[in-house]
Amino acid sequence: MKFAIFGDIHGNIEALQAAYDAAGRAGAEKIYHLGDLGGYSPFVNEVVSFLTEHGIEGVQGNYDEAVANDREHCGCKAEEPLQEEMAHRSFAWTKSHVLPATKAFMKNLPVEITFTAEGRKIWLFHATPKKNNLYWFEDRPGKFFREMAEKGDADIMVYGHTHKPYRKEVGGKVFINAGSVGKPKDGDPRACVALIDITPQDVKAEFMRVPYDVEKAAEAIVAHGLPPYFAERLKEAR
Ligand SMILES: [Fe+2]
Repeated sequence: MKFAIFGDIHGNIEALQAAYDAAGRAGAEKIYHLGDLGGYSPFVNEVVSFLTEHGIEGVQGNYDEAVANDREHCGCKAEEPLQEEMAHRSFAWTKSHVLPATKAFMKNLPVEITFTAEGRKIWLFHATPKKNNLYWFEDRPGKFFREMAEKGDADIMVYGHTHKPYRKEVGGKVFINAGSVGKPKDGDPRACVALIDITPQDVKAEFMRVPYDVEKAAEAIVAHGLPPYFAERLKEAR
């Protein structure tokens, strides 16, 4: 089975459209998203409409949970005061622009999805199995990977939240961070789509990098009254 994963779309409809087209060209039989549908870019309602129209199922991210429940904070971690201030402005903007239907969609997203392919159990969630805003980077010690795997009985775990893709095997389990469609932070501004191919022998993960009009997406951020800070970061992929 070959399926595509759309991590952290974050209101970027241009990137989502390009990712969808690329997943189709690559022969993905099914697409899932990993939540965090709004924030930083303005097209949160359009992203939700697109997912609905195309029947793309997925899980709830910390941003979705926070927007849907009118939280005070998105639950994202800031490394410095400017980032914290900008994150707050993005969150406030998003909360004030989501349509009721968008909020309802976010509220109803499941926190996890499991399914089986080729006899292997796959487990999708936003960040980690029990906490949806913990950053699970590739350089976490093996102990951390094992502890997370013990929270379920899956063979393959797929998640996002850090916006930095990787595939790793620890203790016979496969861990795939799908990266981010709409806001990569690994220095490559192209949309990232994880293409996962499960055969009886193997679990392959390819991180397709999909070009799209980043300049247009960056201009839309500014034009809609979001901080230009996010336009710059989109272009620099950080
Ligand atoms: Fe997130």
